[in-house]
Parts: sequence; structure tokens; C-alpha cells
Amino acid sequence: MKPKVYVARPVPPEVKSYLQAHADCTFWESKERLGRERFFAAIAEVEGLLTSGTPINEELLARAPKLRIVSNISVGYDNFDLEAMSRRGVLGTHTPGVLDDTVADLILAMMLAAARRVTELDRLVRRGGWVRGMDEELFGLDVHHATVGIIGMGRIGEAVAKRARLGFDMDVLYYNRSRKPDAEARYGATYVPMEELLARSDFVVVMTPLTPHTEKMIGREQLARMKPTAFLINASRGAVVDEAALIEALRNGTIRGAALDVFEREPVDPANPLLAMDNVVLLPHIGSATARTRNAMAMLAARNLVAGLRGETPPNPVPELRSLAESLGHDAKRKG
Ligand code: DGY
Repeated sequence: MKPKVYVARPVPPEVKSYLQAHADCTFWESKERLGRERFFAAIAEVEGLLTSGTPINEELLARAPKLRIVSNISVGYDNFDLEAMSRRGVLGTHTPGVLDDTVADLILAMMLAAARRVTELDRLVRRGGWVRGMDEELFGLDVHHATVGIIGMGRIGEAVAKRARLGFDMDVLYYNRSRKPDAEARYGATYVPMEELLARSDFVVVMTPLTPHTEKMIGREQLARMKPTAFLINASRGAVVDEAALIEALRNGTIRGAALDVFEREPVDPANPLLAMDNVVLLPHIGSATARTRNAMAMLAARNLVAGLRGETPPNPVPELRSLAESLGHDAKRKG
């Protein structure tokens, strides 16, 4: 008998066929929000769950006692309660690698849009505000030959460094838990302490995963260390930045501007003061949102799910649950 699986996000037809070949699947395909009770009812008997962003916590795990694996269609997995999953022997997987270039492209777009005031001036043109040559007060700042500081030099951080250095002749600074000799050799990236990165960068790019250690890591104190001409770019998770402190810094000129693809609350609250600010570029969490990349992520997530259900070590267990994945894999091999 095929294992029961719930697919809580729309997936492309080829991913659907692949999943159906390996599992007894139920798909949530509506654009409507899947309510909590309907969701809990749907997962009561499943062994596998394909999703993104759904909090996988004690409550959910208690409502899905047969669950063996949750496969995220995302690289971030801050929705996983790793302790609860580990306690219950539920594996978690994610989709690293396939989205790196797409997210890095967006980060460059955000830097350019913020510095060259692309969205702000687009709004000005639309409302009929282009009545003569541009006043100096509407000039932007150069991106080329500026300094970018990358906080969190993982695969996406390196893809940003590559574009910044080789495409825009930028100086690249970075701060990370460990040194990245490859990025240093290839892109001239310089490892510096966080305080120095904040003080020297024209663009501070936050690219660190959200964990208890990184929550609100950019707050009032860090923003105060940045140059008044600098921009904060965040495409990782909203909660890595203290949004209230950022709003204050944007209002009082502590920094020049920001570009945000992520927010503390998503979808963003219509009353969020950021929406009324001209010196911020706002995007609806679209870092990986191209058709090709999202399809690749969905297929990778499906492969992770199927491998886990077969008792194999999936290609991409989240690092904190890797030993669980390996022990399940070894068990399966022993039994097989
Ligand atoms: C990710 O993959 O984590 C992106 O932020 C999309 O959710």
C-alpha cells in the first residue's frame, strides 16, 4: 500500500504525477486559505506532508500521529520546531541550492531599486510628477564601486558576492559564523567583524536564516552603526530585523533607505508604517518566485518526501535532523 501524503501547496503537474506514482496523495489546490481545522482533519492519517511555511509544532504533530516526514518547499525552515520533530522522530527536509541564483538576482534588483529610487520614481511618473528635468534632490546613489556587506555568507550570500564583485566592481565585506576561503579567493570578499561591516557598507545585505540566535539581530544599536547614506536589504526572514527599530531609523535618517522582501508579519499589515515611506522598496516575499525556480523547488521537495517515505536518507534533510535522517536510512537498509 502506498503511504498517505498531504500536499498543502499547489504544485506543477509533473510534480503531481511524480508524487502520485509514489504515494496516495491528497492535494490542496484552491487559492483559498486552507483553514486550520480543515488542515488538521486532512493530515490526521498521513505519513508525509509537503508544505511551506506551515508551523510544524507540537500541536500539529499531535494531530498527525502517523507523520514521518515534512518536506518544505523552501530553503528556510524556521517553521520547524526542531526539538518537537526530533522528539517524535519526524524528519524535516528543505530545498537548498536550486534557488540561490534567483534569490541573488532579486537582491541585486533590490539594491539597484533602492539606490536608484526605481520604485519611488516610478510612482512619481505615474502620478504626473515628471514636469521638468530631475531635481538634484531626486538623484540616487551609485551601486557600482560601492561596498556591500553580506551578513550570512551561505550559498545565496556567495551568489550575491559574485554578482556584486564581478558585475558591479563592488567591494565585498562579509560576516559569517565561519570564514569562506572560496568567496575570499574568487570575489575578494573580506571577512570583518559585524560592527565593522555595518560601519563600512553602503549596502548591508541580511542573508542569515532565522534562528533563536539571529532573531532581531539587526536592531536599533546595529542600525545606528550604519552610515546615514546606507541601505538595509533584507530577503531572508522579517524577524531577523527589529522592524520597529528599522521604521524609526528610516524616519529619523539614521539610514538612507531599505529594500525588504520579508516582514515580521506576512502578508504585511496594511497599517504597517513602512507602506507610507518613500525610502523603502517593498516586495511580497518573492525571493525565489520565478516559475522555473519554484518548479525546481517543488520537484526537489517531492524527491525529498518520497525518499524519506521509502526509508532512505533524503537528499536534503535539514542539518539539525541529519542524524535522524541517517539513522532512519540505516534502519531501512538493515531491514531491507
Ligand atoms: C525560502 O525558500 O526560504 C524562501 O524564502 C521562500 O520561502
